[in-house]
Amino acid sequence: MESWKIQRGPVIRAEITVPGDKSISHRAVLLAAISNGTCLLTGFLPSEDCLATVGAMRALGVEIEQPEPTTLIVHGRAGQLTAPEADIDCGNSGTTMRLLSGILAAQPFRARLTGDPSLSKRPMQRVMTPLSQMGARLTAEGPKNAPPLVIEGGKLTPIAYESPVASAQVKSAVLLAGLFTHGRTSVTEPEQSRNHTERMLEWFLAAPHVDGLTVTVAGEMTPESRDFHIPGDLSSAAFWLVAAAAQTGSHLLVTDVGLNETRTGVLAVLVRMGAHVREIIEVEEGEPSGSIEIQGAPLRGTVIRGKEIPNVIDELPILAVAGALAHGTTVIADAAELRVKETDRLAAIAVNLRAMGITVNETHDGLEIFGGTPLKGARLSSFGDHRIAMAFAIAGLFAEGETVIDGVECVATSYPGFHDTLRRLATHPDRQTPVITALPKE
Ligand code: S3P
Repeated sequence: MESWKIQRGPVIRAEITVPGDKSISHRAVLLAAISNGTCLLTGFLPSEDCLATVGAMRALGVEIEQPEPTTLIVHGRAGQLTAPEADIDCGNSGTTMRLLSGILAAQPFRARLTGDPSLSKRPMQRVMTPLSQMGARLTAEGPKNAPPLVIEGGKLTPIAYESPVASAQVKSAVLLAGLFTHGRTSVTEPEQSRNHTERMLEWFLAAPHVDGLTVTVAGEMTPESRDFHIPGDLSSAAFWLVAAAAQTGSHLLVTDVGLNETRTGVLAVLVRMGAHVREIIEVEEGEPSGSIEIQGAPLRGTVIRGKEIPNVIDELPILAVAGALAHGTTVIADAAELRVKETDRLAAIAVNLRAMGITVNETHDGLEIFGGTPLKGARLSSFGDHRIAMAFAIAGLFAEGETVIDGVECVATSYPGFHDTLRRLATHPDRQTPVITALPKE
C-alpha cells in the first residue's frame, strides 16, 4: 500500500493546467471507435480509468494508436465491433462499464465485463433495465445485480426511457444504444446530469435533440469521424481551487480547463462560500473551455442540495473539505448517490473529517459539517477512492501537524500527476520543504 505524508502548506500563487477531462476522454474514445473513420484525439487523460476504455475498445477490434500519452489516433469501425476473445476488464471505472454496455447491447455477440473489487460492488441494474427493454440480454453475476456483467447484444428497439436517477452514465448508455436502432430513442432524467454525450454526438454530427430534460437520438446513425481536443478536467482542478479559495492571499489561475455548464456548479458553490472567482470562456465549440482565476478569502458555510447535486457530484468530497475550512455550517443533502460511488463517499468523508477534529452529522443522503475549528493532522484512509484521497490531501495542507493518507495508489484512476502538482504548488519557497512525501510501500 502506498501512503502520503502531508504537512501544512503555504499560500498558493501559481498558474497551472490539469490533465484532460475524464468523462470527455471516455466518450471521445467510444464515439471515435464507432465512427466511420479516423479521429485524432488530443488532450486525452492517460489515467487508469480512461485506459480501461481504450483497452476495452482494442479488445473489441478497434485499432487505437497512442503516439504520446495524451494523443490517440482511433480508427473507427462504423459501429461494427468484433467479439472479444476474453473478459473485458473495466478496472475501477463505472463509466467504462456503463457506457460500453450501451454499445455492446447492439453488437451481435456476447461479452463479459469485469471490474476491480470496488466496481464489483456498484449497481448495474440502472443500465440493465433500459437496455433489456431495448431487447439486449444482460445478466449481472454479482450480488444485487453487481458486476461481472454479461451482455448478449443484438437487434434493438427504440424506447422512451424515464430514468429514475439523474445519471449521465445511464443517459449515455441508452443514447449510445439508441444510435443502433431503427427509430427514435429518448431519455428523460429527473434533473440535468452532465451533457458531454449530447455535445459529443453533436460534434460527431449524430444530431441529438435536446428538449428540457429529454434527449432524443435518431437510430441508424453512424457518427462522422472528426478530430477533437479534450480540455482539462474541472473536477481535477477543483482540488486546487478549494486549496486556493480557503486561504486569504492565495491566487491561482487554471488554464485550458473544461467549463461545460453542467459541470461548473463547483464555481458557483465557492462564490457562495465567499471566494473570488473569475471564469473566462475561451472556446465555445464542442466543449466549452477556458480559464479560471481564483483568490482566497475567509469562507462561510453553504447549503448544497436539489438540482445542484448532479452538477457537483464528483466535487462533493472536496467541497465537504471546503465546508470544514469555512465558518459556520455546510449542509449537503439529496446526495444519496454518493453512497454508490467508488466507495460510500458520505461515510468516508464523515470518518475522515471526524478524525481531523471536525463535528459532522451524517444523514441518509448527506452531511452537516460544522466548520471553522482548526483541522488536526491524522492518519486517514483513502477507502480506495481517488477523490477521497485527493480531497484529504488538500485538507492536510490546512491541518496542524502531520496528515498521513493510506492507499493513495487509487489516485492514478483519474489524476496521475496529482502528487507532482501538489509538490510544485505547495513547496514552501523559503524552506524548499515539500509538503508531500511518499512513504515507503508497506
Ligand atoms: C460520469 C458521471 C457521473 C460521475 C462519474 C462520471 C460520466 O456518474 O459521478 O464520475 O462520465 O458520465 P453518474 O452518471 O452515475 O452520476
